[in-house]
Amino acid sequence: MGRAGGLKSARVLGGVVKRGTLIVFEGLDGCGKSTQLRRAAEVWTARGLDLVVTREPTDGPWGRRIREMARSSEGVAPETELSWFFEDRREHMREVVEPALAAGRLVLSDRSYISTVAYQGARGLDPAKILAECEAEFPRPDLILLFEISAREGLARVRERGAEGEPVFENLEFLDRVAAIFETLEVDGLRRFDASRGEDEIAADVLEAFDSSTPFPSPSASSRSGSAP
Ligand code: TYD
Repeated sequence: MGRAGGLKSARVLGGVVKRGTLIVFEGLDGCGKSTQLRRAAEVWTARGLDLVVTREPTDGPWGRRIREMARSSEGVAPETELSWFFEDRREHMREVVEPALAAGRLVLSDRSYISTVAYQGARGLDPAKILAECEAEFPRPDLILLFEISAREGLARVRERGAEGEPVFENLEFLDRVAAIFETLEVDGLRRFDASRGEDEIAADVLEAFDSSTPFPSPSASSRSGSAP
């Protein structure tokens, strides 16, 4: 199991906000992470926290290429797929996440390198190696909220949604392998949620996880960044 310890967060030291906080929402397709992210963002914004909401794959050129590939019925070689996710993430970190963290903001991301470990690991690449490479290159999330659901249930929800399908990633056999990697994942800051429950119950647990994972930025610490008297 992961621990919620070792969290780094924005701290006002001598009037300077050192670093923001990165929280990532993870899980299988259909696990409800995007809904939970939206709900958490509403609550935390109402509390006065200075949020940036973002996602991977991004809407940038690499992210668009990934989505196009996922919607077609042909995949690409696992190594190629992996390199596209890395390129997309490099751009995402450089342009969105790192500047926000440097400004002491709270960043909520729908997916992160944890998805690369599970999904590209399920393609047959080595999950431990992917994790080590990502941890060496990218900012580590302070909190990883992992919404757990079976591949069958997740896929049924995706199909109910009726959105455009992504056959490369959304098939039962593949998602079973992704789920198996999520299940054995051990990283700092990981919190698991039973996502087969009702939306409200899960949302309450997400808030509790946030509130109990200290130290997180207080509204005054994050909203005052850059405006010291
Ligand atoms: P998803 O969050 O489902 O986006 P959307 O709902 O907009 O389609 O992500 C798209 C797919 O990309 C999803 O099936 C998981 C996959 N994925 C990876 O395989 N590796 C990664 O590193 C990331 C971030 C996503």
